[in-house]
Amino acid sequence: MEIQDSIKNLKNEADKEIGAAMDQKSLEEIRIKYLGKKGILTQILHSIGEMPQDKRPQAGLLANAIKGEIALLYRKKLEELIPGTVGICTLTDLTLPGRKMTAGRFHPLSLISDEILQIFKRLGFNVVDGREIETEYYNFEALNTPEDHPARDLQDTFYITRDILLRTHTSPVQIRVMENSKPPIRIVSSGKCYRRDASDATHSPTFHQIEGLMVDKGVTFAHLKGILSSFLVQLFGVNTVVRFTPSYFPFTEPSVEVSIGCWICKRKGCHICGNGYLEILGAGMVDPNVFKYVKYDSKKYSGFAFGMGIERIAMLKYGIEDIRLFLENDIRFLKQF
Ligand code: PHE
Repeated sequence: MEIQDSIKNLKNEADKEIGAAMDQKSLEEIRIKYLGKKGILTQILHSIGEMPQDKRPQAGLLANAIKGEIALLYRKKLEELIPGTVGICTLTDLTLPGRKMTAGRFHPLSLISDEILQIFKRLGFNVVDGREIETEYYNFEALNTPEDHPARDLQDTFYITRDILLRTHTSPVQIRVMENSKPPIRIVSSGKCYRRDASDATHSPTFHQIEGLMVDKGVTFAHLKGILSSFLVQLFGVNTVVRFTPSYFPFTEPSVEVSIGCWICKRKGCHICGNGYLEILGAGMVDPNVFKYVKYDSKKYSGFAFGMGIERIAMLKYGIEDIRLFLENDIRFLKQF
C-alpha cells in the first residue's frame, strides 16, 4: 500500500475510535495513540524524511492535513463529552479578513456649534457655560419678561416647580454672567433649551441655542451690526447678504431679526425661504431694565445680545429637512457629517 493510502486509512480508523470513546480517559488514550509525541502521526511525519525526495512534499502535506483533521475530531468529541472545555472557537481561519474598526465622529450639531463658537472666539468673545435647569427669575423676570408675556405661558415652558423650570432659551446666561462680573463683557454660550412644542419637521421640544452678549462703555447698534455681519459672512461665505429687520424681544430695545439672503433661490423666493431671506438670529441692544436687575449703570454702559437656534443653522447649511433626525441617533444619518 502506498503511504498516501495508509495515511488516509489512519483517519478513518481514528474517526471510528474517537466516535466510540465513552469517556475522557479513553479519548485521551486515543489522542496519545495518534497525536502524541510518540504517536502514529508523529512517527509517519518522521519517516517522511526517508522517502524518495520527490514524494516527500506531497506526503508531508497529506500527513499534516490528516493530523489537523484528527485533532479537530478529537476536540469536537471532547466538547461533546465535557461541554465548555474546548469552547466554540474550534477552528481559527487565519485567512478571514480582519474586523473593520469604525471610528466615531462628531454629531452635526456639535460641528456647527464648534464652528460658530470658534468664529466668536476669533472676534474676542469668551465661551461660558450655562445651566439647563433654571429659575423663573433668570429665565424670565430678570430678562424683563413681564408676568403676562405669552412666553411665560404654561404651554411653552416645562415647569418643574412653580419657580424652577427647564430654560426656554440661553438668555438666562446673560443675567448670570452680568451678576458675576463687571464690564467689559464679551461672551458666547451654547447649549440645550426646552419648550413644550409638539414635535414635527421643524419643531422639537429639545433644541440648541447659542447666546452672545457684549457690554462695555460706548457699545452701539453699529457694533451689533458689524459683529453679526462679520459672523454671518464667516459662517455662510463672503457673498452672504445680511439683512436687519425690526423685531421684538422683552430684553432688548431696539430688537432686530437678522436674516441672510437665500442662496438657494438667490433671493427670488422659494419653498425653503418664502420671501428670499432666511432668518438666522434674534438680537438687540440690552434693555436698560435688564441692566437694573444686574445693577449695572445704564448711563455708563450699553451692550447688545443675540441668540440663534443651532438646529436651524445646521439644517440650512447641510440641507436637512427634518429636525427630528438630530435626535434619532440613526447611524446612517450621523455618518454623513
Ligand atoms: N432668546 C431669544 C429667543 O430665544 C433670542 C435672543 C437672544 C434675542 C438675545 C435677542 C437677544 O428667541
